[in-house]
Amino acid sequence: MVKPVSVTFKETVLDDLAAAKGRVAILVDPDGRIDPAGRRVNRLTKGAIQRIIDSGAGKLKSGDLRTLAYPAGMAADAVDVVVLARGASHAEARKAGAALAKARGTALLLLAAGAHRRADEIVLGLALRDYGFDAHKSDASQEDTRGVTVMATRPDQVEAAAAPHLAVAEGVFFTRDLVNEPANVLTTTEFAARLKDMTALGLKVEVLEEKKLAELGMGALLAVGQGSDSPSKVVVMQWNGGAKGAAPLALVGKGVVFDTGGISLKPAGGMEDMTMDMGGAGVVAGVMRAIALRKAKANVVGLVGLVENMPSGNATRPGDVVKSMKGDTIEVINTDAEGRLVLCDVMHYAQDRFKPAGMIDLATLTGAIIIGLGHDKAGVFSNDDPFCKALLKAAESEGEGAWRMPLGQAYADQLKSQIADLKNTGGRPAGSITAAEFLHRFVAEGTPWAHIDIAGVASLKTDSAFAPKGATGWGVMTLNRLIADNYEGE
Ligand code: BES
Ligand code: MN
Ligand code: ZN
Repeated sequence: MVKPVSVTFKETVLDDLAAAKGRVAILVDPDGRIDPAGRRVNRLTKGAIQRIIDSGAGKLKSGDLRTLAYPAGMAADAVDVVVLARGASHAEARKAGAALAKARGTALLLLAAGAHRRADEIVLGLALRDYGFDAHKSDASQEDTRGVTVMATRPDQVEAAAAPHLAVAEGVFFTRDLVNEPANVLTTTEFAARLKDMTALGLKVEVLEEKKLAELGMGALLAVGQGSDSPSKVVVMQWNGGAKGAAPLALVGKGVVFDTGGISLKPAGGMEDMTMDMGGAGVVAGVMRAIALRKAKANVVGLVGLVENMPSGNATRPGDVVKSMKGDTIEVINTDAEGRLVLCDVMHYAQDRFKPAGMIDLATLTGAIIIGLGHDKAGVFSNDDPFCKALLKAAESEGEGAWRMPLGQAYADQLKSQIADLKNTGGRPAGSITAAEFLHRFVAEGTPWAHIDIAGVASLKTDSAFAPKGATGWGVMTLNRLIADNYEGE
């Protein structure tokens, strides 16, 4: 997997600046003030830094970056002047780090962070943006990114503060790798194996195979995978870092490793994007990795339903009626509305087995959420106001867009079936909400629940603030924050 950059923390030694190789980064306040390292670099470059600052006077804002290339008087190939207020917010510091990651490419970097109190957040922004998925590029080995050294007045403090951030970045990268991976590589079997490997991090990981799923009665989930040669699986990951016996938070992810639509086949144009239809499962996996790496003091279970939606002589047909683990029968109107069939069984199982204190499912569930919210915000649906509020707050503080959408009986009524207990589509109007109402039916009375439709945010065609084009890892930071703020109270 792609690992976050390795960062070395050390005390500030001004005399090291002249001889540093690669790139040197210094911080400047928007009002033009520089720290001792900045002053040293300015002296070495005979005032070039001051000229950069003067040229931007009045226009410098946090997160901006100016580069001095091949500076005379220094061994480095470039000096990056990073604008960052001394009282910068988390978000500004991360943005500055991301700008630095973009500027440096694959070069060695020495960041003179001085006494900046958000140095750890600069490191997080840098680490998140410093990602490339080159597993299938023949010439990738030459592009190996070099390490980063952070010089700071209190290096131990910065290192300790950055450690959990780097754990989260590794979780985000795990998610991105899974989402970016093509479906011929990331089969259900390969996906389960990568999750099983996390046993080494102290997670309890079980893989439930088809036979077991049939015994449990997961007829809806199995109906989705039955047209594929890849076996359907449910993977259960447990992190027990909290009080013994305390009810866990349950995270449930849609893991459709490829969604052709099944017999209700999707059009050819853009179908290749459906390699990301396991994005919900990818986020659940990334969160479990992050909390295990940072040894979170919380009980969290992550469950993912891994299936492939293919057309074949054995595939589920439109009009088929399947039985869910809960017992409700479902008329399959459209085999392309498969995510909800997977989730309803995994959600029911999660509640049945773990009696969770709360449950959040994540899924690239509907194209309609992209029509509604585009690519900036995920759609959030919930049956519990305080639970939803905590989730939205976590998203807000991590800078991941999220927007609450409604639920309601009128939407649920769109799912009434002539011949079964419900059908799997509610027609075109409010497609994301009827999908959420479908899931709602499988939430036990009294379980605080949120459904997050990440179809628009899981993978992008353009670069974003903290990721190059492709998988974003949206949600790992939000859920990690939700857990840290609400489930780790000692
Ligand atoms: N995986 C898709 C949703 C999707 C669309 C994700 C675009 C990411 C980008 C989902 O399984 C699907 O096909 N949904 C259908 C539902 C419809 C048949 C009721 C859709 O949104 O069209
Ligand atoms: Mn589909
Ligand atoms: Zn799908």
